[in-house]
Amino acid sequence: QMLNDPIEMLGDQVQEFQKAKSGMLRSRELLSLRSEIENGREDQLPEGPLGLEFKQVNFSYNEDKPVLQNINFAIKPGERLGIIGRTGSGKSSLSRVLLRLYNLDSGTIRVGGKDITELTLPALYRRVGMVTQDVQLFDGTLRDNLTLFNQDVSDQIIKETTDRLGLSHWIESQPAGLDTHLKAGGSSLSAGEAQLFALTRVFLTEPSLVILDEPSSRLDAATESMLQSAIDQLMKQCTGIIIAHRLATLEKVDQIMVLGDGKVLEFGARKALASDPASHYARLLITGREEELA
Ligand SMILES: Nc1ncnc2c1ncn2[C@@H]1O[C@H](COP(=O)(O)OP(=O)(O)OP(=O)(O)O)[C@@H](O)[C@H]1O
Ligand SMILES: [Mg+2]
Repeated sequence: QMLNDPIEMLGDQVQEFQKAKSGMLRSRELLSLRSEIENGREDQLPEGPLGLEFKQVNFSYNEDKPVLQNINFAIKPGERLGIIGRTGSGKSSLSRVLLRLYNLDSGTIRVGGKDITELTLPALYRRVGMVTQDVQLFDGTLRDNLTLFNQDVSDQIIKETTDRLGLSHWIESQPAGLDTHLKAGGSSLSAGEAQLFALTRVFLTEPSLVILDEPSSRLDAATESMLQSAIDQLMKQCTGIIIAHRLATLEKVDQIMVLGDGKVLEFGARKALASDPASHYARLLITGREEELA
């Protein structure tokens, strides 16, 4: 027995070493990966709301299928652009290349007059915020999830923002308020709550350019109007791009872009397009067929 026990222990140790070895190999593989997205050098963007310009932008995920083709447009600082188009027309892809989640095939994107490939990634992310169609939650408290673990944001500021956006009632109804623990994934939030949550999160970073990718699913009327007022609040202080699935969201935008199969079918001031009966937007208004936006 005295011999057997230590030998068994040695056997266990060998197993542990084997696990450590394979873990080490995998970590090394991961650490040796280099991102294709290269950091630029420029660290400064102009103060205040940022303008945006796309110039001959082409992009594809796979070589065989172009997703964005020759996209050209510009919006001035403080303006709001509404983007509409059918499912798969490239709306979300447009926001992804703007945030440098992918490299372009060709063309340039300028934010605040600067080519985004010349900017450092933190400089871009500090000023440009995005609300995606599906909201990601991290394993942590409600507070951590709202501030994205930024300790500098005080509870006072969180309270003010959630009051303004209409989320504070929901936070107060949670068992431990801001200290409530959330599970990763997001199953504990309804679709409307998740959107309010994501808006608050972006709001707290005080962005100068915001991209809002609306969820395509239907929300109830009360939640919709709450979301709408939250969006209005957010957009007051920055340039905004709203990828819209509801006509109501488009009522307050300055410019409208209609995307189809990765191309710009129509771009212009909302008022002009609304009064031109031949435009896509005017036809949409007349028929009220929101499903064409989905
Ligand atoms: N990660 C990816 N890899 C490969 N192809 C993709 C990827 N994401 C999107 N696509 C393709 O790119 C095209 C545009 O997709 P995108 O998500 O931009 O559409 P969308 O206009 O946002 O649609 P929706 O209104 O449904 O949100 C689609 O044909 C889609 O299949
Ligand atoms: Mg999309």
